[in-house]
Amino acid sequence: MLIDTYGRAATDLRVSLTDRCNLRCTYCMPEEGLAWLAKPDLLTDDEIVRLVRIAVTELGVTEVRFTGGEPLLRPGLVSIVERCAALRPRPRLSLTTNGIGLARTARALKAAGLDRVNVSLDTLRPEVFHTLTRRKRHQDVLDGLAAARAAGLVPVKVNAVLMPGLNDDEAPDLLAWAVGCDYELRFIEQMPLDAQHGWKRDGMITAEDILASLRTRFRLTPEDGAARGSAPAERWIVDGGPARVGVIASVTRPFCAACDRTRLTADGQIRTCLFAREESDLRGALRAGATDGELAELWRRATRGKKAGSGLDDPTFLQPRRPMSAIGG
Ligand code: 5AD
Ligand code: SF4
Repeated sequence: MLIDTYGRAATDLRVSLTDRCNLRCTYCMPEEGLAWLAKPDLLTDDEIVRLVRIAVTELGVTEVRFTGGEPLLRPGLVSIVERCAALRPRPRLSLTTNGIGLARTARALKAAGLDRVNVSLDTLRPEVFHTLTRRKRHQDVLDGLAAARAAGLVPVKVNAVLMPGLNDDEAPDLLAWAVGCDYELRFIEQMPLDAQHGWKRDGMITAEDILASLRTRFRLTPEDGAARGSAPAERWIVDGGPARVGVIASVTRPFCAACDRTRLTADGQIRTCLFAREESDLRGALRAGATDGELAELWRRATRGKKAGSGLDDPTFLQPRRPMSAIGG
């Protein structure tokens, strides 16, 4: 198992498949994009599947989430999913995507063994989408969502980030829409993970703001606390149910004490936290011929260095060197 010194077990592995993206969300990337990782630095499909196999068979990982950048841009995605679905014990498999291209691949992903998707969508207004992501792809995302639902990649979850002055008035509209489409909506507080370092705590829309805004139109009752487990989202029953809405208050109500995550970057580094400033290199050892047992031991050792919390509330907090797109959410 991957146990840290605070007794938490990391059973949920996030695997970033690429740091590239076809959107340029303002809370993530600058207009011109970033200096992408060079191809030889990326783990190959075989290397990824090997590390996932070690995580699942030797380290107690039960959930594998593929992320990016935008993971649908990875040519080998369907085959990676298929090979991970063939592992025993079989991990649960999901994907966090911006939805562009999902209309084309949802069925193949389902057939390969993907269980679920999380699709990022912050607005129902095409022009606001354009401002937020700097690309005119709103309809592609809506099409991708519908295709995911039709393919049975359910529950389809939608992640929304509210940005002051852009879409902060949209929470109730987004919820009404998601309930109508049978998507589970979750709001994520904006975190200091943008490459431009433009995040300011003062301006951010908090979980409290979001809940107040939703309550102008919906009756929200807290879901039984026990149901939350290690899930970062606090969930609320909407108008008596069955619909739910989640709020991920990473900044104002951090859930570090229950964190069960470990992360693998596209270039083969272990990160124990989104906000970690240290990484542990697995790729080097892997390419130098390490055995499965040695790689597992490196991963265990990295896990023991996991800090108690994100440090966001510490005045000396420094943003991680990697932006979100190179960590994988
Ligand atoms: N703060 C909060 N959420 C973010 N995401 C990307 N960058 C940030 C940020 N700075 C979201 C994306 C996606 C998920 C991976 O994380 O919108 O839904
Ligand atoms: Fe791409 Fe996701 Fe970053 Fe938006 S938030 S630019 S979709 S990686």
